Amino acid sequence: MRPFVKWAGGKRQILKRINEFIEDSIDNRKNYTYIEPFLGGGAVFFDKCPSQAIINDLNEDLINAYRVIKSNQYLELIQQLEMHAQAYKEDPDGYFYDVRAWDRDPLWPRNHTNVERAARMIFLNKTCYNGLYRVNSKGQFNTPIGRYRNPTICDKANLEELHKYFSDPNNKIMIMNGSYEYAIEKAEDGDVIYIDPPYDYEDDDGFTKYQMAGFTFEDFKKLKEICDKAINRGAIVIISNNATKKIIDLFEQDPQYKIFYDMSSFNTLRSINCNGAERKSGKEVIFWGLPNSIPFPQANDMNKIIKLVMADESILMDKEKASEILGVTTPRQVAYYLSALMFFKYLTHNKKFSERALKIKDDESKIKADIFEQLFKNKIFYVPYRKFLSTRKVIVEDIKLQIRNSNKKLSESTIDRRASTIRSWVEWMYEFERYN
Ligand SMILES: C[S@@+](CC[C@H](N)C(=O)[O-])C[C@H]1O[C@@H](n2cnc3c(N)ncnc32)[C@H](O)[C@@H]1O
Repeated sequence: MRPFVKWAGGKRQILKRINEFIEDSIDNRKNYTYIEPFLGGGAVFFDKCPSQAIINDLNEDLINAYRVIKSNQYLELIQQLEMHAQAYKEDPDGYFYDVRAWDRDPLWPRNHTNVERAARMIFLNKTCYNGLYRVNSKGQFNTPIGRYRNPTICDKANLEELHKYFSDPNNKIMIMNGSYEYAIEKAEDGDVIYIDPPYDYEDDDGFTKYQMAGFTFEDFKKLKEICDKAINRGAIVIISNNATKKIIDLFEQDPQYKIFYDMSSFNTLRSINCNGAERKSGKEVIFWGLPNSIPFPQANDMNKIIKLVMADESILMDKEKASEILGVTTPRQVAYYLSALMFFKYLTHNKKFSERALKIKDDESKIKADIFEQLFKNKIFYVPYRKFLSTRKVIVEDIKLQIRNSNKKLSESTIDRRASTIRSWVEWMYEFERYN
């Protein structure tokens, strides 16, 4: 399925990369809710078509159109779009500006039905300059007409397909219209949130425009706090934006190392805010926040952790080299091992070796002794370790109970994964003590 509108900041170009992160986050699970709080045209959402989702955007006109498509009024919407298409053909300029002027009427929007508003929104989107949704200070749509020869105003087949998807009783799609925080607050353990906020611009023209749209650097800070909380509840967060220094510093420099955001950046061509025709090369960044990085990195193989501590510092920044050294294949696995390094306080927030690591990194036996000491002081490892010494068995059920008691909200699959790490590390403790 395709988006029914063209949207500034649409994610077509980097769809493949974002999808990789989403697939890694889902990790073959069936039972999760996909949440997209800055939906826009929904390029990523429609590519995925999840069966359980919460979608949201602040734009009332846009969300009204999603709701009409979901409802039984979609047939009326198609009829009205066909009517707009016909009238536009006869007099493109005159008709465009007539429809655009509807919101200048003091009775707007009460004097039009939701279907009429949705049809107007889609019609203007297909015929205005670059599909840009822009309103003046009074909230009146003010993008001029675009130059199209034969725009597809009514894509009947796609609208029918979208309606089928939204209204399928097997699918649970909640459509929200508000600020992003309300949608993110709904995230629970195991849910996957894809976040595509308005771009952060450093100093080009777009900066002031997005400030006007109401998304400032202060908003990015608040967004991060809300993401941190969702991650602490067990959700997985994927955030894309342009790679400005401010944004990178914000996500990478968590002074208390509370949440580890894995970062990937890459070059892309993107359309600039108010002028979609103009393309500029830029750098995009994806942050990936995983819940069980800390305090439970899912990095079972202690030998791999030790190898990484002994590696050259440049490896930490280079995902490909890191996965070669670790013998793992996915970026998710590399992220887990890096977060294990943070867990043992060997890695700082900006992926540099800490003082602690630098003191011991050339001596494998010192690293092992330090890891053992840290685990021994931690109740979650110490308790099963003591039991192991007397019974020679790691009782996974006991470990699971311990995890369940420490956090009542965790899903069984998260508990399983955490228990598996604890078990491996406890076995490693035993081997270590036995041979030292
Ligand atoms: C970069 S666009 C998303 C584009 C989308 N990924 C796509 O494929 O079309 C950002 C969206 O965030 C919405 N937005 C801006 N501020 C918001 C807020 N505080 N809460 C929710 N949505 C907001 C805008 O209306 C816009 O649709």
